[in-house]
Amino acid sequence: MKEVCIADLQKRFGSENVNFFAGPNGLPSVKLSNSFGEVEICVYAAHVMSYKRPGEEPILWMSQKSMFTVGEPIRGGVPICWPWFGPHAEGKFAGHGYARLAMWDVTAAAQAANGETAVTMQLTEKDVDAKFAPAPFRLEFTVTLGAALTMDLKVYNTGDADLTYSGALHSYFNVADSAAIKVEGLKDCKYLDKVLNTEGVQSEDIVIDREIDRVYCRTAGVCRVVDPGFGRVIRVAKSGSNSTVVWNPWIEKSKKMPDFGDEEYHTMVCVEAANVPAADDARTLAPGAMGELIQVISVE
Ligand code: BG6
Repeated sequence: MKEVCIADLQKRFGSENVNFFAGPNGLPSVKLSNSFGEVEICVYAAHVMSYKRPGEEPILWMSQKSMFTVGEPIRGGVPICWPWFGPHAEGKFAGHGYARLAMWDVTAAAQAANGETAVTMQLTEKDVDAKFAPAPFRLEFTVTLGAALTMDLKVYNTGDADLTYSGALHSYFNVADSAAIKVEGLKDCKYLDKVLNTEGVQSEDIVIDREIDRVYCRTAGVCRVVDPGFGRVIRVAKSGSNSTVVWNPWIEKSKKMPDFGDEEYHTMVCVEAANVPAADDARTLAPGAMGELIQVISVE
């Protein structure tokens, strides 16, 4: 995997609002900070690790057991799942694709007159382990810290054949008590239940009282994580996504995951802006075409 020099990044892109640092286990990372708050992004996996607004609880959740090891996914924050969501179609590789296992390149950082701060990272097939035999592509991921946190993933088909992919911005939210929250915005939507292997229609707002791993279909709208413990509502808006995944591993599955604490399911919930094939939401780009998945996180 390519070497990244933190001092070089700081020289090229650093500023009062953009600071590169050695993150967990020395992984190259960048912190954006301004009057709206702060966000930390790991250059490995272009992974948003934390998002905080002044005087508030962290909005994103990160496992105390996350490995922060090159070649392994980071557990928490916002993994970029791409170019496949869930298990690999032929079972050859681990789930959720290789974008979260690669070292990205920082290509730009910007401070806007309105006080927003942004950083852009990119990944191409050349940055990905050859064992994946990746087709030509370019991902461009821009994180903008303003009144909301905007994550914009652009996918460019740089090859000469169609490019089909699926994926997600797999956000882990920090909540006071997962059993006390409600996830709004998915009522009356059809879902595929990956725990029970069934389908259903969501009759009420989502309450978490057991393992939940559901793909909600035809869901382009806003979700709200209503958290009475922290006295706040996290708003998740998106575009370029017509499926939404809600996940909490609950008791047994938490124990099975080496990078997830046994009790940590109490303080997290994933609400993911996704392109899930099973929900008929995989995307195909003609040569030269661009696709975009945007997620905007804010607090009401
Ligand atoms: C969710 C999937 O998106 O991610 C779950 O729906 C999966 O099935 C979860 O368990 C975590 O995946 P991973 O690969 O990061 O452990």
